[in-house]
Amino acid sequence: MRVGVLTGGGDCPGLNAVIRAVVRKGEVAYKDEFVGYADGWRGVIEGRSMPLNSFVCRGILPRGGTILGTSRVSPHRQDGGVAAALENLSEVDALVVIGGEGTLRAGLELYSEEQVPLVGVPKTIDNDISSTDVSFGFHTAVQIATDAIDRLHTTAEAHDRVMVCEVMGRHAGWIAIYAGIAGGAAEIIIPEEPFDIDEICESLVHRHSSGRWASVVVVAEGAIPRPGTISVPEREIDIYGHRRLGGISNLLAKEIESRTGFESRVTILGHVQRGGTPTAFDRVLATRFGMAAIDAVHDKAFGQMVALQGDRIVRVPLGDAVRSDKPKAVPHDLFEVGEVFCR
Ligand code: F6P
Repeated sequence: MRVGVLTGGGDCPGLNAVIRAVVRKGEVAYKDEFVGYADGWRGVIEGRSMPLNSFVCRGILPRGGTILGTSRVSPHRQDGGVAAALENLSEVDALVVIGGEGTLRAGLELYSEEQVPLVGVPKTIDNDISSTDVSFGFHTAVQIATDAIDRLHTTAEAHDRVMVCEVMGRHAGWIAIYAGIAGGAAEIIIPEEPFDIDEICESLVHRHSSGRWASVVVVAEGAIPRPGTISVPEREIDIYGHRRLGGISNLLAKEIESRTGFESRVTILGHVQRGGTPTAFDRVLATRFGMAAIDAVHDKAFGQMVALQGDRIVRVPLGDAVRSDKPKAVPHDLFEVGEVFCR
């Protein structure tokens, strides 16, 4: 078979490991040939592709980013995008789509409306794709954020300060909750649980008055205040319709400092969480996903996505993964685990 591969959406550690696994297993087990599309759906629309083989994939397992490039372009959001994509995809027998919610949704539409034979692989550091317990990249982002929190702790203690550390997570606070618990944060603020600035300040004052000093507050970029408390300035929308987040920590630090008198500082981890080498866990998960994806192609399991459920790699309908507009949320009981240490 001749199989196309693309990576779309925000990049994520482990993308190259998926590409390598798809190609290696496809060549060895099925004698496949591969075409790599440049920059996600943009390359499919513009007909920009490169040959992909084991030689090209040598040495990429530990490399962050993606050798194919990526973009947030979607065929349906561009005039003539679908027609151009269909024409260019006629050179392949099937397509492996490695992406997050937006990229997979475009894949689902092409599959269900145009019968494009494709298989999805979930990626996002945010870990908010439904139907899979974990997406690769999440573990790496959590490790990076936890390392940062550990470092913030020592400088916070030295200066007796409050350090507000902002991590990614626009709709779901998975990175914040995991890194916050792992790093022993004093407060963890996530989009799923709107925060009350008064309560946060009270608990910081209580914590400091009980003999402990210095606090790290971890906040997800998409955190929202409880209605009727403080307000967050409107965010600009980028050309792909995404609200540009980042900066809630500045507001928090300002409020904490003025309400408690504790000197406060801000660290926004931003794209550091997405860059660099994947952890061992993410390399293994990405490799298992890649191998399962090429198996799914040969089983003609089109319109499906590979997923991790428990210890097993399974196939789920793409429609289940991207059907709802509600991303996979942090459950309340996990939030409560973090709360125990916030007193
Ligand atoms: O990959 C998802 C994500 O990491 C979000 O948490 C974040 O808001 C967004 O990407 C930022 O991506 P970019 O700056 O590439 O638009």
